[in-house]
Amino acid sequence: MSRLDRCLSVGDFEREARRIMPRCVEGYICGGTEDGASLAESVRAPRDIGFRPRGLRVVDQRSSQVSLFGQDYAMPVGFAPTGFSAIVMHECDLALAREAQEARIPFIISGASSVPLERLQAATGNRCWYQAYLPGNIDRIGKLLARLRAASIPVLVVTIDTCVGANRENLQRLAFTVPFKMSGRVVLDGMLHPGWTLNVFMRTLLGSGVPRFSNLYEEIGPPITQDPPNGFRGERDKLSWEHIRWIRENWPGKLVLKGVMHPDDARMAHAAGADGVIVSNHGGRQLDGCISPLQALHDVVAAVPEGYPVMVDGGFRRGADVLKAVALGARMAFTGRPQLFGAAVAGAAGIRKVARIFHSEISTNMALLGCGTLADVTPDLIAPVQPAGPWNPRPAV
Ligand code: GLV
Repeated sequence: MSRLDRCLSVGDFEREARRIMPRCVEGYICGGTEDGASLAESVRAPRDIGFRPRGLRVVDQRSSQVSLFGQDYAMPVGFAPTGFSAIVMHECDLALAREAQEARIPFIISGASSVPLERLQAATGNRCWYQAYLPGNIDRIGKLLARLRAASIPVLVVTIDTCVGANRENLQRLAFTVPFKMSGRVVLDGMLHPGWTLNVFMRTLLGSGVPRFSNLYEEIGPPITQDPPNGFRGERDKLSWEHIRWIRENWPGKLVLKGVMHPDDARMAHAAGADGVIVSNHGGRQLDGCISPLQALHDVVAAVPEGYPVMVDGGFRRGADVLKAVALGARMAFTGRPQLFGAAVAGAAGIRKVARIFHSEISTNMALLGCGTLADVTPDLIAPVQPAGPWNPRPAV
């Protein structure tokens, strides 16, 4: 049986992918920051929520379709932006964009990706959203917006949780740096994983050269082995609500803020004219010790007007997890690592299978919940998981 056939769940893909990836790649993709508390909490949090299903509802005609920003999507799952995906698969960004298009789900290009966004747009009929790591500098933001407009990006996602680089000790231990530097440890890692060295490293080097910071700023930047002009993180710590208001006035497309965890930030996003928010702790990769996005979701949904698009990412490994978020009011749940695990295991076919797994789990679990559409996935179908009992024991006779 092939590796791909063996993978029946996202968890299976993760186990297989961890075997294939060199340790520094695994560390970058799978790791969090400091003690990994935010990451662990995000993955664990769905277990705090239990289902309270309904029976005897006719569910033979189910649809998990969802409309968002004028598009119909096949399910409330999208591919989150994931930077440096080139370390998992040759031209991974392109495969992610194509497979998302095929699965009729949204795909967000990462600002730290390497296939030029114009190529990704050409491959998908201009359907990709774009996620920006913005400097707090209107001149530089304006230049990037001009590029995004020329590329007909429909949705601009501004990340608000990366004002500084987080304390990623695990990457320091593994000698993984941005910009990327070759070290003895990285070379040894590659030698111990010949499949990756051949299929990803060599194929990329021979096929398209060292991946570049292609989508960070207004121009195609240098190879990821060099710092981009103004630095990878230059002036991000100056980004403020003033810039968001300026963007709103100067960006005609949809505007989404990502990394919103506090209900007051959700209120401010709405007031600043953003068209939606993504509740996210950056996959547990920024501030360690965050509550999970699933826990933050309820307060954020309550803070904004009904119907305002609230999306969420981080920790979704099952269709059931997604349905819990939908019951809490999320319009869409984005996944990051799952499709990278798919890519690492079997390239485009792996990404496709991960999307199919989410779709099939969502469809099955909607039926088991008694839901024909996502509108039927209401808050009464979930409850906090509590220890069983207390109950009154029957008197022993
Ligand atoms: C990029 O966004 C990262 O979290 O590494």
